Amino acid sequence: MRKVRTASVGTARRHRALGHRSGTGRSGTRSRKVPSDHQRMQEGSWSRADAVAVLDSPARLSSQDPSRLWRRVDLKPGDIVVDVGAGSGFYAFPAAAVVGPGGRVYAVDVSPELVELVRERAVKGKVRNLEPVLSTPKRIPIEDAVADVAILANVLHGIPSTTVDEAVRLLRPGGRLVNVDWKKEPTPEGPPVRHRLTLREATAALTAHGLTPVDSFELGPYHYVLVLERPRPPRLPGHLVSAE
Ligand SMILES: C[S@@+](CC[C@H](N)C(=O)[O-])C[C@H]1O[C@@H](n2cnc3c(N)ncnc32)[C@H](O)[C@@H]1O
Repeated sequence: MRKVRTASVGTARRHRALGHRSGTGRSGTRSRKVPSDHQRMQEGSWSRADAVAVLDSPARLSSQDPSRLWRRVDLKPGDIVVDVGAGSGFYAFPAAAVVGPGGRVYAVDVSPELVELVRERAVKGKVRNLEPVLSTPKRIPIEDAVADVAILANVLHGIPSTTVDEAVRLLRPGGRLVNVDWKKEPTPEGPPVRHRLTLREATAALTAHGLTPVDSFELGPYHYVLVLERPRPPRLPGHLVSAE
């Protein structure tokens, strides 16, 4: 796995490099030394320094308020949430506050540095219902059908289909996948427009994994949210169930 930057990287260089980050960087700005947004997503090369500079930027709270999202999708105390590509925990920690001690949030990421960062934050904040999980693009080490809600926030445009398969595997029948992503239009921040998916493209990509769209709405000025459900298996008539 390629490490792009660490905390020792000079501030000016880091800020230049972060210019096109998927989190908040200016759309379209490029640097030859930095892998493309898509490459970096697939390599899981987000570092701690990236997370602090980009994913924890206070401006994000106003443009994509996670608490507003969780209210809007009616996340409940006791729910089990899997945040795939959780980064620094921007959506996962507010989810843990909502689901409370009877619920659980798995903050899944391919970046060991970010999994460790989330672990430290959970310990420091005494957030006992949040579990950081290190994954690979092909495998999330969590058992099948545990989740009421899976979230993909700012990641669908850069993750392989195998990761989406894993997110769907973790959903219980009737569970919902919440996809938050950048609108495919120029915005003052975010990944290059050519890497983004329209709502229609995201719907096509996720219904191809067997999910059924149930809702969509805007979250702040730059993001849309698409909610899909994992279908429940059809109920067999009683006489067929007891046939043997
Ligand atoms: C743009 S950040 C988004 C973080 C967080 N969802 C947010 O909105 O603040 C993308 C995150 O996805 C992770 N990632 C990239 N590819 C992944 C994959 N295949 N499976 C899980 N996480 C992945 C990266 O390490 C990074 O933390």
